[in-house]
Amino acid sequence: MATKFKINSRPVTVDVPGDTPLLWVIRDDIGFTGTKFGCGIGLCGACTVHVNGRATRSCITPVSSVANTVVTTIEGLAENGHPLLDTWVEAQTPQCGYCQPGQIMQAAAMLRDFPDPTDEQIDQVMSGNLCRCMAYVRIREAIRMAARRMQAGVPDDEGNTREASHA
Ligand code: FES
Ligand code: FES
Repeated sequence: MATKFKINSRPVTVDVPGDTPLLWVIRDDIGFTGTKFGCGIGLCGACTVHVNGRATRSCITPVSSVANTVVTTIEGLAENGHPLLDTWVEAQTPQCGYCQPGQIMQAAAMLRDFPDPTDEQIDQVMSGNLCRCMAYVRIREAIRMAARRMQAGVPDDEGNTREASHA
C-alpha cells in the first residue's frame, strides 16, 4: 500500500504494508539512519521523531498513520539547524551517543510547549527517554542552554524564537 508523506520537507511515497513501523520505513526504505531502534515497544524513546511537530515513537507508529503528515528526523533538525545541536556538543552531553537522536527530538518538541522549562518540566517530559549511560544531568543542561539561546533570539529548526513561537 502506498503511503505519501513529507520527511524533512521532502515528499516521499513508500509502497509497504500499512502496518509497517515508521521506524523501519525511515531507516530501511528512506535511508535516514539517525533514528535508532531501542526497545521496539514504545518505552525507551530512542526512535523518537516528530510527526507534525509532535514527538512520536516511530517504532510503534504504523506508517499508514502518517499519511499526508510532515515527519521530521534528527537529519531534518540538522539540515535546518537548531540551538540544541550546538548546546548538546557544548555540554558534552553524549557518552555512547545511541540514545541521543531520540533525546534531542524529544527536547526539541518540548521546547515548543515549554520555551522556558523548569527542571521539573524537563525531568517530567524527558523521563520517558532512557539513557543507559546516565547522561541525564548533561541532557538537562543542554536543554537549559538551548532555551536561553532561543529566548535571546536564536531560532529553532522552523525559524521560531521563544517569542515568535508563542506569539
Ligand atoms: S525503540 Fe521506540 S520507544 Fe524504544
Ligand atoms: S549516551 Fe549512551 S545510552 Fe545515552
